[in-house]
Amino acid sequence: MTTSVLSDLKIRFSKAIASAFGEEYANHDPAVAPSKDAKFGDYQCNAALSLTKKLKQKPQDVAAKIIENLQNDHSINEIFETPTIAGAGFINLKLKLSYLESQLAKMQKSDRLAIAKVDQPDRVIVDFSSPNIAKEMHVGHLRSTIIGDSIARILEFQGHEVLRLNHVGDWGTQFGMLITYLREVYPDALTKANAIAIGDLVELYRKAKKRFDEDEAFKETSRAAVVELQAGEPSAKQAWLLLCEQSRREFQKIYDVLNIQVTERGESFYNSYLSDVITDLRETGLLQEDQGALCVFLEGFSNKDGQPLPLIVQKTDGGYNYATTDLAALRYRIREDKATRIIYVTDIGQSGHFAQVFQVAKRANWIPETVQPTHVPFGLVMGDDGKKFKTRSGDTVALKSLLEEAITRARADIESRNLEASEEFKQDVAEAVGLGAVKYADLSQNRTSNYIFSFDKMLALQGNTAPYMLYAYVRVQGIGRKGEIDFASLDTDAVRLTTEPEIVLAKHLLQFAEAIDAVAEELYPNRLCQYLFELSQKFNQFFEQCPVLQAEESERISRLSLCDITAKTLKLGLNLLGIRVLERM
Ligand code: ARG
Repeated sequence: MTTSVLSDLKIRFSKAIASAFGEEYANHDPAVAPSKDAKFGDYQCNAALSLTKKLKQKPQDVAAKIIENLQNDHSINEIFETPTIAGAGFINLKLKLSYLESQLAKMQKSDRLAIAKVDQPDRVIVDFSSPNIAKEMHVGHLRSTIIGDSIARILEFQGHEVLRLNHVGDWGTQFGMLITYLREVYPDALTKANAIAIGDLVELYRKAKKRFDEDEAFKETSRAAVVELQAGEPSAKQAWLLLCEQSRREFQKIYDVLNIQVTERGESFYNSYLSDVITDLRETGLLQEDQGALCVFLEGFSNKDGQPLPLIVQKTDGGYNYATTDLAALRYRIREDKATRIIYVTDIGQSGHFAQVFQVAKRANWIPETVQPTHVPFGLVMGDDGKKFKTRSGDTVALKSLLEEAITRARADIESRNLEASEEFKQDVAEAVGLGAVKYADLSQNRTSNYIFSFDKMLALQGNTAPYMLYAYVRVQGIGRKGEIDFASLDTDAVRLTTEPEIVLAKHLLQFAEAIDAVAEELYPNRLCQYLFELSQKFNQFFEQCPVLQAEESERISRLSLCDITAKTLKLGLNLLGIRVLERM
């Protein structure tokens, strides 16, 4: 098993720099990166330039010393041709073909493409999906679900311990309002399971909210119901449980369709920890009173008049809010779950909220240096018209019908191409393509930008789409069928790289580990999509230019191996995006 060439090189160069110029340079940025231009080789080290000033030596001399020390570890010579120096001390490195071939052999033998697990796994929490009870899951939650799942898969693949948490909105004032309204108009719903469907529940929520906003007496009763609930009064508690249960069943249908694993640990879970948050903030001296509410004044956030902005943690009526819950959750995740990396996947609109919560937690000394909370924001989903995604009647789009439509459209496509196929086959293909397309369309965008939801674009066979990627995989399987090849029993030490398209493909295959590292570090899954897209393109170029089944025997086996490794990489890569491949389509 190996780590990526890039991470290996960074370590080697750091060592070389330290041994050349002294331990005080051990943390100097080795500035190693893949080369932008193939004529400078495959990797570059640009550290000489930044060292020149400090060392008062010519960059070429600095570079020469680095190379000398790099070569103290002879194993570098198995990986790279002799390093060369260009311009102002740039060190260029070119992979040896023999090294590429040996790595490909390892990849071919391994079901994880010879990518090693990390030595020191983190305990990671990925807080994602997180819809709200009694409301419908909307496209924003869909994005969070898809992006969060992919991030979790990638970190799990690397060997980290990942806790996938669904921080559902299952607590707070809306329940008082809902319970009060249902007690009035539909008491059965509060005692009998299944008495209302989620669709009705959403409508009821709307009506309850209207009453709440218009009717003072109703508002009072609702507030009292929240207090009842929070105090654990049995009938309120039972009503709440039923409401949650109904929503949960609906959410689960979506998770089943999308094949998502996530553990529910909603806001209510932290109920008994909320008062500790207040006590602790008071003890650290951060808590202040502002117009009856308890709050922490934030640094770097101000209101219109330039006054510091308060983060309210306990309202005038004694109630807690979204921020208090997140503070309690953060503490719990650090203290009880022992998480060292905590990732929150929500829309960009919540960036302020998380920055504020993290700030207060830091100032309260709840976040040890070893713990890193990170907000992973994403943009809005827009309609084809560039406006916020809505149905024609202006309602928010229900996720279930959205996913169904993707499948129906994919199904229509296969119906038109493959008349003889069995019912079962067509449905299977339609589901893999339709759902894969929805996920891929979301993941392939830079998540921070808004993205346009277009069935036509995401289902297109050309371009950076799921169908294009799935076809590349199917194509390889097709070669295997045509040549009656059992890929599993191919000789795994057969790759010999001779032509340019083979070398280009081989080098790209070796970069898979780098793409995975990059996503795990920066949390942008589109980096992996881009990698896979380029892989498909490079494979297609190879396949157009290099005969496979027609080649003479040793070349044939070598090229079939390249096909096999490409297919394995596509399959694993798509799997890390939550997308399943098809053998035929
Ligand atoms: N329920 C929230 C919403 O729908 C998202 C929760 C995200 N997670 C968190 N820990 N605040 O907007």
